[in-house]
Amino acid sequence: MSATNRRILLAARPSGEVRPDDWQHDSVPVEEPGPGRFAGRTRVISLDPAMRGWLDDRPSYLPPVGIGEVMRAGSVIEVTASEHPDFQPGDHVVGTFGVQEYVVSDGKGAMKIDTSLAPPSTYLGALGMPGMTAYFGLLDVGALKDGETVVVSGAAGAVGSIAGQIAKARGCRVVGIAGGPEKCSLLVDELGFDAAVDYRAEDVRKALRREAPDGIDVYFDNVGGDILDAALTRLAMHARVVVCGAISQYNNVTPVKGPSNYLSLLVRRARMEGFVVFDYAQRYAQAARDISAWIEAGRIKVREHVVRGSVDDFPETLAMLFRGENVGKLVLELA
Ligand SMILES: NC(=O)c1ccc[n+]([C@@H]2O[C@H](COP(=O)([O-])OP(=O)(O)OC[C@H]3O[C@@H](n4cnc5c(N)ncnc54)[C@H](OP(=O)(O)O)[C@@H]3O)[C@@H](O)[C@H]2O)c1
Repeated sequence: MSATNRRILLAARPSGEVRPDDWQHDSVPVEEPGPGRFAGRTRVISLDPAMRGWLDDRPSYLPPVGIGEVMRAGSVIEVTASEHPDFQPGDHVVGTFGVQEYVVSDGKGAMKIDTSLAPPSTYLGALGMPGMTAYFGLLDVGALKDGETVVVSGAAGAVGSIAGQIAKARGCRVVGIAGGPEKCSLLVDELGFDAAVDYRAEDVRKALRREAPDGIDVYFDNVGGDILDAALTRLAMHARVVVCGAISQYNNVTPVKGPSNYLSLLVRRARMEGFVVFDYAQRYAQAARDISAWIEAGRIKVREHVVRGSVDDFPETLAMLFRGENVGKLVLELA
């Protein structure tokens, strides 16, 4: 075991896009586990748009990361030493262990994973938080019915790619919205979406009129802003708008841009509802079983974007999400 633990800490609260000097890179001695705890080495770190929100000092569903604290992150670690009865050396464990090379944990919120069934990265993606988000957002909040018309924004990303494929597995017509021709081809040619809209190249409102001529029953929104506004103009009667996220707004220095077309909710007797995936934790096992079965049956294809490097690459890797440089679930795999 190396003598030092390299870590990424929050140095300053960003305004707008996160800058390199908002982070502090440091090294501290590696800790021993101690009674009731285990120690492990980080293998894969999850990059999530929500991380941007955790840097702001404002009320949210989790407290902000404190200045001088290790950056919060989901990760998979491999246990190296243990004085905890439930975790043994060699186990792979998923949890919120932060952006650091070595971890000591009392096991709270940690879960052993079976890497013979899927690689560690998949437990941060399709079988992890993004997969759970797609599943409960679409099926519970979106109350999806077989055969409906579903539109997903951020469709080539971690959550969107799974949400769209679940909707396909349920016999829906699925339209994905994503940035660029490569992502749009991926959606249709590889992931089985019925159509894709490149929001960078075409007018989204017009494209949705073409691709969802009878209206949208479920709009699964990952991006907010103008794309949300465009989708609101195409709602079918009793549509459900799932507010999963609004990445287009996360770096705003001005107030979040709300939807000006919200009165279509009234006209269409529609509903718009937000959710936080953690509220469904009791049901994760069922969702993971269903998603695994869809993967095994070839109904869901898993796309992961693996950056290989060190924890020092975390800031630059996180920025990729906001530039749309990832296809599928973005993770940083430590060498
Ligand atoms: N509610 C919950 O509990 C929950 C849980 C997990 C995630 N989320 C939310 O789900 C959304 C997707 O997360 P993810 O992990 O799956 O990320 P992701 O989609 O894998 O990555 C982010 C993607 O967002 C798109 N994007 C970036 N800036 C954009 C902009 N200005 N306008 C439109 N699209 C933009 C980019 O794709 P393009 O190239 O297509 O632009 C980028 O690849 C996020 O909003 C996240 O906060 C919510």
